[in-house]
Amino acid sequence: MKIKFENVCYSYNQKLPPKIRVLSNINLEIVAGEFVGIVGPTGSGKTTLLQHFTGLLKPTSGTVYVNDKNIWRKDFQLQDLRRKIGVVFQFPESQLFEETVFDDVAFAPRCQKLPGKEINHRVTSALRLVGIDAEQMGNRSPYHLSEGEMRRIALAGVLAMAPEMLILDEPTAGLDPSGIKLIAGILKRLHAEGITIVLISHNIDLIFELTNRIIILDEGAIEFDGEKTSFFHSSKMLLKTKLDLPRIIKLSQFLCDQNIIQNREVYSKHELEKQLKVL
Ligand SMILES: Nc1ncnc2c1ncn2[C@@H]1O[C@H](COP(=O)(O)OP(=O)(O)OP(=O)(O)O)[C@@H](O)[C@H]1O
Ligand SMILES: [Mg+2]
Repeated sequence: MKIKFENVCYSYNQKLPPKIRVLSNINLEIVAGEFVGIVGPTGSGKTTLLQHFTGLLKPTSGTVYVNDKNIWRKDFQLQDLRRKIGVVFQFPESQLFEETVFDDVAFAPRCQKLPGKEINHRVTSALRLVGIDAEQMGNRSPYHLSEGEMRRIALAGVLAMAPEMLILDEPTAGLDPSGIKLIAGILKRLHAEGITIVLISHNIDLIFELTNRIIILDEGAIEFDGEKTSFFHSSKMLLKTKLDLPRIIKLSQFLCDQNIIQNREVYSKHELEKQLKVL
């Protein structure tokens, strides 16, 4: 699947002057297999941008294409698109509504009118993917779970649709380090299995660890779109966006300044370990 935004602008209040548009002239293209991070301060338009991917919001001007087809043309099947792009929203509890965990995860496959056996299989494997045992948790109410568990159930509900692309809005907000690690592990596995992922997060360590490409939004406009390494290399971009450096880069720079390691350009835990082993 290929998604393309062409000069997309959006205002919640259509009468607002162009200067206070929430999105202005967004041009981007995401192709199958990518793992893209979207970063930007509160209010920069990340969630608004996300809602344009599946046609939950219609651009005030500009066009969104999926596989070169304008998604707002009358003959375009938005329902099909929403089945192919799974979205995990910012507040997971808003996405849960059935009485049991099983029913909640089964919602999309049931809507697709899949046979009962296939529904069971989809639900148990989606729950397994997020580290939840269907036998143990299936009958519990999704409302009486911890925030981390709710987040995982919401993700399982989306995975049960077998989407080609997954978009997640702040999936780790409010989670403890082990909860964050768990989500990171799940996303890595899903990407390795071939799902295209767009991750919106304020957690710069997570974005740096998982994604290849980052898009930085500021006041509704794209400030940067490219390789994560070239972004964190550019002190001009760092200064301009006021983003913090990922901890792994900070630590490597410190160790290099102390002459403990030789190379400042370390981009993963694995690379850092390798340099430390040489000592
Ligand atoms: N339904 C709405 N009606 C009017 N204005 C809105 C609405 N939703 C968001 N906005 C405004 O649009 C701007 C962008 O909001 P958006 O939720 O896209 O930001 P965000 O980057 O996702 O922020 P955060 O990091 O806090 O989640 C903000 O100024 C916000 O106040
Ligand atoms: Mg948001």
